Amino acid sequence: MSNSAGKSILIIGLGMIGGSIARGLRKVGPDQMILACDQDQEALGQAIRDKIINDSGSFEIMCPLADIIIIALPPLSIARLLPKIAPYIKDDAIVTDVASVKSHIISAAAEIGEDFLSKFVPAHPIAGSEQSGYRASIDNLFESRNVIITPLATNSPEAVAVINDLWRSLGANVLGMSSARHDEVLAATSHLPHLLAYAIVDVLAKQEQSEDIFRYAAGGFADFSRLASSDAKMWSDIFIANADATERVLDDYIKNLLTLKKAISEHDHVYLENIFSQAKHARDNFINTHYKPSSQVEMRNTQSSFHIEPGGIIEGKIRVAGDKSISHRSIILGAIANGVTRVKGFLEGEDALNTVAAFREMGVTIIGPESGEMTIYGVGKQGLKAPRKPLYMGNSGTAMRLLAGLLAAQPFDSVLTGDESLSSRPMNRIAGPLREMGAQIDTDSDGTPPLRITGRPLRGIKYDMPMASAQVKSCLLLAGLYAEGVTTVSEPAPCRDHTERMLAGFAYSLERDPARGTCSLVGGQALQATDIDVPADISSAAFFLVAAAICPGSNLLLEHVGVNPTRTGVINLLRAMGADIVLSNERLVGGEPVADLTIQYRPLKGIEIPADQIPLAIDEFPVLFIAAACAEGETVLHGAEELRVKESDRIDAMAKGLEQLGIATEVFADGIRIVGGKLGGGTIDSHGDHRIAMAFAVSALRAESAVTITNVANVATSFPDFVELASRAGIKISMVSE
Ligand code: S3P
Repeated sequence: MSNSAGKSILIIGLGMIGGSIARGLRKVGPDQMILACDQDQEALGQAIRDKIINDSGSFEIMCPLADIIIIALPPLSIARLLPKIAPYIKDDAIVTDVASVKSHIISAAAEIGEDFLSKFVPAHPIAGSEQSGYRASIDNLFESRNVIITPLATNSPEAVAVINDLWRSLGANVLGMSSARHDEVLAATSHLPHLLAYAIVDVLAKQEQSEDIFRYAAGGFADFSRLASSDAKMWSDIFIANADATERVLDDYIKNLLTLKKAISEHDHVYLENIFSQAKHARDNFINTHYKPSSQVEMRNTQSSFHIEPGGIIEGKIRVAGDKSISHRSIILGAIANGVTRVKGFLEGEDALNTVAAFREMGVTIIGPESGEMTIYGVGKQGLKAPRKPLYMGNSGTAMRLLAGLLAAQPFDSVLTGDESLSSRPMNRIAGPLREMGAQIDTDSDGTPPLRITGRPLRGIKYDMPMASAQVKSCLLLAGLYAEGVTTVSEPAPCRDHTERMLAGFAYSLERDPARGTCSLVGGQALQATDIDVPADISSAAFFLVAAAICPGSNLLLEHVGVNPTRTGVINLLRAMGADIVLSNERLVGGEPVADLTIQYRPLKGIEIPADQIPLAIDEFPVLFIAAACAEGETVLHGAEELRVKESDRIDAMAKGLEQLGIATEVFADGIRIVGGKLGGGTIDSHGDHRIAMAFAVSALRAESAVTITNVANVATSFPDFVELASRAGIKISMVSE
């Protein structure tokens, strides 16, 4: 049921947007009390005759009757109206707006005072049309469209949830941003195009024989100039309200135009063609990947490759992106906590962003990520909403398995899907024990996704994991949060324990027995929101550790790396191979050990990999195999069959790539033997696996000729700025997109 059911909603301004809100609300709530204020008596009369609104009147009379007030006026009018309506608003009412500029409205709200600020939750539906007035309103204007909420620090999570739910009931996708970021983004993507449309029509209209020009104008002109038919009053308001951000982007645009003008007058064909083809590529990409309001971003360009020239020295100081495991968990736990969770250092990679999108789809307001910062308005353990479509987990086994545990216990049904790689990964490892807890989960006949989950009450179990999997452990602990009684999971060997540490950080009590390798929790407690500082991902740092370890003359400092002992297998194994790695500035950040790592080149030797290190280095084997290829002697790995069911079969994919480089390998069902030697060059297929792609990028440092790695788009799942950081550190890498 919607949070606004049974509440009176007042819409101030019954134009195209206000009217469409009213029509949409009426469609989903025939009994909803909808009130309106407008100067246009004809529009109000028509809306009453249409049975879209119940009543209308002056704001002095209507405001005291309303639980939710939506102001749908041009931006400057909203800023002027807020102080006028403030005295008439009920104590527990919530006020929102629809303006496409936020900062100046928030300043106006701030002048009214603290109390008003706590009630005012700004929002902006990215929907509209060049038509205006109540007559142009439609009941599905917001369906599958984005609405951006820009909550204020003073807003309670409950108030934010009411506004989220209001837009959700109209079928919108609710996003979150800071108001400053919102105004920057809108200046570039909406305000500038409107200005250009008005300007071009104005220029043409003032030309002599403009009539003649317009007569011959065709589809191109109509497409481009459509926005110039928008409401003139509204748009002059918008530019004045968002003057600073618009001026900044307009300056860039003017500079660009002047350069184009120069290129035209100099007949610089190459320059023009270059700029146009870059723009065409960017626009095609936007249409393919983002302009699909009703579905999630599932398209990707699989045609990109890395090209790396051989050789180089690794030096300097870098900080790699945030830890993927902790980023996923910060969203999941923040979403179901009570209160507001603030995250720093969040990994803005595709995997974690799919988790963000999933929780947004389940009604959670999430602001950001903006430069790694994220604010999650927790809805509490019982506050998630049924997703309206399958939740797309992209490439991420972690997201799918952890969400499966959480969703199995919800009072609604859900479907989890993934990309081609994820769709072939084993899910029975979680479906089996979840079913023992009482869950109903269907997989494909071979135990692969999609997962179809029928939410139902669960009971705690004691489960001995057959493999050391943090995903399985975390899935069951998340299900256990909701289960009746105690859920105990035991692991055959230590594997990453972020879920346990973070649950404790969210004030959920659990018992751990390291000697027995068990973790138990009692279902039914609440989680309390907290602040999270995500350390740099040791799995991403690993590429640079190996890069420096294999490259004579290298000396690199990696800052703020998470060194949780359940993740440091890569350090232990590289040291065993002879690498010189020093940890400094060791500290605890939000319950996770963090350190700066310095690594200098030293010749490596092959080793037998101890079994207890396998779960601690499970994601780092692709790049450790590169270290082994550059080491003197043999490296042998057994007991690592898990590597065959990662994003690709990593034993096979690495063996093929290493052979391509001229390295002798012997493949076992559960591992590999690698004989260190000279690396050639050539083209290597990453099999669409991010870590295989990055591992071979590192190998080029010791290759005799250039290395090309195909199918690398998935690097964006875990390490979106890999190419930039790798170049900065000394790898001669470029990205080639076809
Ligand atoms: C992860 C656990 C590991 C790891 C994955 C992330 C996690 O998987 O490979 O990249 O965040 O829990 P398994 O639990 O399947 O070993």
